[in-house]
Amino acid sequence: MDLQILPVTTSKEKVKDENQLVFGKQYTDRMLIMEYDKGQGWHSARIQPYGPISLDPAAMVLHYSQEIFEGLKVFRRPDGSLSMFRPADNITRFNRSAERMCMPEVDETFFLDAMLELIRLEADWVPRSAGTSLYVRPTMIATEPMLGVRPADQYLCYVILSPVGPYYKGGIAPVKIWISDFYVRATEGGTGEAKTGGNYAASLYAAKEAAESGYDQVLWLDAKEKRFVEEVGSMNMLFLYDGKIVTSPLHGTVLDGITRRSVLTLVKEMGYEIEERALSVDEILEGAGNGRLQEAFGAGTAVVISPVGSFCYKNNCVQLGDGKPGKLTMELYNMLTAIQYGKQEDRHNWITLL
Ligand SMILES: Cc1ncc(COP(=O)(O)O)c(C=O)c1O
Repeated sequence: MDLQILPVTTSKEKVKDENQLVFGKQYTDRMLIMEYDKGQGWHSARIQPYGPISLDPAAMVLHYSQEIFEGLKVFRRPDGSLSMFRPADNITRFNRSAERMCMPEVDETFFLDAMLELIRLEADWVPRSAGTSLYVRPTMIATEPMLGVRPADQYLCYVILSPVGPYYKGGIAPVKIWISDFYVRATEGGTGEAKTGGNYAASLYAAKEAAESGYDQVLWLDAKEKRFVEEVGSMNMLFLYDGKIVTSPLHGTVLDGITRRSVLTLVKEMGYEIEERALSVDEILEGAGNGRLQEAFGAGTAVVISPVGSFCYKNNCVQLGDGKPGKLTMELYNMLTAIQYGKQEDRHNWITLL
């Protein structure tokens, strides 16, 4: 398939103070888009001016939520050049989500190259200030106008770009986490490991309750016993417990996070033992009290690493250590961001230069 590049005649004004950029509010001048029809496959790939898309009110995505997406970032390096962190892994995960949601897979090489071409054309939109980046959102939706529950015959796949400010403005701050004892995010056999919109829609109600009670994030437990840690909002959870790194196994309900994967590689190299096992809420509460739970942090593209200051479960709140970010947590944050921004050697081949 050829990639057509259409002209862009006007350029939007960029936010002047990059520290004021709000996540997901502003988009660049261009987007990548391609179409799929059953029997024809993917076609009409083009980079065109960013703008609204037209959908039939009966488009299946609007009724049955056949939708998937990804999230990754472009970083500006000290010499002004651009890089991405493990972008091929995101495209592979996009295809895994597509398979789970009965959607057509994309040609990974073509799609990655087309995405990189879009980013090259929009290079000037990658912010320059410390901690900023350009967020990349690949998306696929079912567009066939048809009221009936079955996989659609027509799809649209597109990539949009959004400049984002630093996540931590006043320094890296620990979060207060609410452990949900009632609501669940994903069940065994469900769609938890797919990056599909419905999972996020289903999480809103609990997140709203948590926010109203003053918590930053919801930690989801397993749906069967409501005892074991799964993940948080848009992060995987990792714990330093008895000197070992403990994290939920990937058993279908948890997203296979690329940051999680990278953290596990780094801690292994640092000599830590890793336990991919079910960690119970009792272990968290007791471990915070007796010091066996030394550190806890979330890992995800948006935040990179987010230290946990306290956990609350059924009105019982426990603080971790002195409530400040742990030593290992900070070390991992610094290591990962240094690799991403090109300030540390990329020994793992994680960086794609543009
Ligand atoms: C539910 C969920 N878990 C974990 C993550 C972290 O994944 P990654 O590190 O690939 O961003 C995300 C973010 O994409 C997410 O949405």
